[in-house]
Amino acid sequence: MSLKTIEWRDNSVVMIDQTKLPNELLFITCTDYMQVVNAIKTLVIRGAPAIGVSGAFGIALAALQSNAATKEEMISDLEGAEKILFETRPTAVNLAWALEKIMQVARSCDDVDEIKKTVVETAKQMADEDIKINMTMGKNGSKLFDDNDTVLTHCNAGALATVGYGTALGVIRAANEGGKNIKVIATETRPVQQGSRLTAFELKHDGIDVSLIPDTAVGYTLANNLVNKIIVGADRILKTGHVFNKIGTYQVALLAKQHNVPFYVAAPLSTFDLKSNPEDIIIEQRKSSEVTQIGGKKTAPDNINVINPAFDITPPKLISGIITEKGVVTAPFEETIKELFAAN
Ligand code: MRU
Repeated sequence: MSLKTIEWRDNSVVMIDQTKLPNELLFITCTDYMQVVNAIKTLVIRGAPAIGVSGAFGIALAALQSNAATKEEMISDLEGAEKILFETRPTAVNLAWALEKIMQVARSCDDVDEIKKTVVETAKQMADEDIKINMTMGKNGSKLFDDNDTVLTHCNAGALATVGYGTALGVIRAANEGGKNIKVIATETRPVQQGSRLTAFELKHDGIDVSLIPDTAVGYTLANNLVNKIIVGADRILKTGHVFNKIGTYQVALLAKQHNVPFYVAAPLSTFDLKSNPEDIIIEQRKSSEVTQIGGKKTAPDNINVINPAFDITPPKLISGIITEKGVVTAPFEETIKELFAAN
């Protein structure tokens, strides 16, 4: 079984501390929703679906912490927690999706005790659902992969970016479980190295063949036919098929087009944002020390200006297919995404 990133245990939230990987597999326990807020901000937990479930568990903790005597007071406490949780990381839409869903459930309850019980149960269900969705997505996507494929992936869209199993890496897991022999090439993914610290760690942990390359070797790898397919996750997908994902995804997609290598995206329906246009989305800018240091060691001069966007946008014309738990969509994305949601 792949790693379980986050779970509810004895009225607390237990999560793998991803900042300590790959050197140590440590867990942190949150009993206060502000600890969840801090964990999301500092990348203790990260990856769009995992952040979404963290948000739901954060609301569950806020409900247990609340001293509200009436339903109205409780909803007001939860709205306060929702706002703080929502502001932790703005780009991945799964957080907004999960917070909205759990707040709707809270509002539908009659009293304080029912809210406490129901939000905890709902958050636990959302965590269990996440694994099931990833496994179904994996099965749907595995049909696109052949025995002996070598697949490049960027960032970490694995068990560690979800509750378990993974989105992009879930597809590779499912193909391997189906008897295909799929090898992976993982990019290091600067600046905070989710590829080397997390993807390489979890695939090795699960016995999947993985080689690591620096981000700068993607062109070399494709030009030398070392890879025949690419798969990544997503933090937000618009109705047009524009994919927001970890910084560097766009340049990988451009190189894939240049070398005629299929470029796939795997993401659950909760990652789709059918309301916004590309220019409406705030791309999170992260702290400069992520770029001026590696592993806490200074690698740039003092006081250097830094541009550190966490995500970029891959346009639909570079994407061969988007794999979801409800099937695979291909171009023209504006039409096929519309059909996908109409049918589900
Ligand atoms: O900044 P992160 O580590 O949260 O970014 C994660 C990514 O971009 C992942 O590739 C993406 O969330 C897909 S999640 C399955």
